[in-house]
Amino acid sequence: MPEAKKSPVAKSTATLTFDNKSVELPIYSPSAGPDVIDIRKLYAQGDVFTYDPGFTSTASCESTITFIDGDKGELLYRGYPIDQLAEQSSYIEVCYLLLYGELPSAKQMSEFRQRVTRHTMVHEQMHYFFRGFRRDAHPMATMVGVVGAMSAFYHDSLDITDEWQREVAAIRMIAKMPTIAAMAYKYAIGQPFVYPRNDLDYAANFLHMCFSVPAEPYEVNPILSKAMDRIFTLHADHEQNASTSTVRLAGSSGANPFACIAAGIACLWGPAHGGANQACLEMLREIGTVDRIPEFIARAKDKNDPFRLMGFGHRVYKNFDPRAKVMKESADEVLDLLGIHDNETLKVAKELERIALEDEYFVEKKLYPNVDFYSGIILEAMGFPTSMFTPIFALSRTVGWISQWKEMIADEAQKIGRPRQLYVGATKRDYVNISKR
Ligand code: ACO
Repeated sequence: MPEAKKSPVAKSTATLTFDNKSVELPIYSPSAGPDVIDIRKLYAQGDVFTYDPGFTSTASCESTITFIDGDKGELLYRGYPIDQLAEQSSYIEVCYLLLYGELPSAKQMSEFRQRVTRHTMVHEQMHYFFRGFRRDAHPMATMVGVVGAMSAFYHDSLDITDEWQREVAAIRMIAKMPTIAAMAYKYAIGQPFVYPRNDLDYAANFLHMCFSVPAEPYEVNPILSKAMDRIFTLHADHEQNASTSTVRLAGSSGANPFACIAAGIACLWGPAHGGANQACLEMLREIGTVDRIPEFIARAKDKNDPFRLMGFGHRVYKNFDPRAKVMKESADEVLDLLGIHDNETLKVAKELERIALEDEYFVEKKLYPNVDFYSGIILEAMGFPTSMFTPIFALSRTVGWISQWKEMIADEAQKIGRPRQLYVGATKRDYVNISKR
């Protein structure tokens, strides 16, 4: 188990001087990354707020889970580099690592795997809940609703003050999310729901629930399930990104874990976040052929055109997203395995990447391919429609959300998240009756 969290010790102080006032602010040194100035007492001592829309310079919490070095293009889960985990580990082992802080022993691994697989089925009545949705609903819309509704089914894991209940909620969420995502898919295409198979591993079971039908036998291709597992691993956690911060903010009020994860799913859906994988493949298809790339590069650079190169750029990475490198290799492997040797979308993606990486605009702004750039190509080759890309991201990220949520609840310094504002609206004025306006 990881070491108990100690309160940070200030290594020095920063002095903020303004309006004839001077405030001393403690500075903490993290185990990795830039120093952090503690401004918690700033309002009490200096009667000022800080202003940081988008949290570009603000650390919102202490965490021991994931670290990103955006300049080096490095991503560590509990200290382990993502490329090593993607190559040598498995998603279920990564789940253990993220939740508990250390790699499991063989015994711990087998117990954990068994606990997760014992929770893969959803309450039978949830089937009726799905049926309330229109068939053409986006699977993310269905997932937000169904995951939120889990609070109405699992009453014995809602008490967030009980450590055991928090643990059960975490296991349930990791176990049931593939079932829910696969059900959302089956519902959208009008096929019967497929129950989980606990003799299969995590990724193989998900593929089975998505692609098998009762009418004929279905064999999961082990190379495809390995690629699926790797996609899950690459998306498992990513520090204090928008959806994780949403989960933490929702959880800071004491909301139950299922409601918090539903909030995270809603946030992930946006095209600037998890929805980018769907948007990216749609963009690559729209470009269609290599000769049209310059036209789209020019649009991405045009200040008057809202178009952006989807799958490019990142708030934190100012170098290659390390996940994109692994994803590119996987795309080659999967397409090769499936005998797809002349994939126009992959050709467009590779050429677009090459051109953008040499283009002054992208070089100067440090815009590199992110995880979403190649993931859509793999998922499409596996047989998933674009609408399933973001639900697959959501199921992979669930372990990250729940690990961060658990860490937050156990943190004694945790308070309800409540940012302040720079108010620029009307000052106090008297109400005027409608007849006089
Ligand atoms: N194409 C063209 N220009 C871009 C792109 C892009 N994809 N991304 C950023 N820029 C430009 C911006 O126009 C801006 O230019 P300016 O300084 O001249 O105004 C500059 O680069 C900085 O961009 P910001 O939007 O300020 O950077 P921010 O950190 O807020 O945004 C984001 C990061 C949202 C990921 C952005 O790069 C983007 O929209 N990318 C496309 C969507 C995408 O791929 N999202 C997935 C992110 S990864 C994930 O969630 C898993």
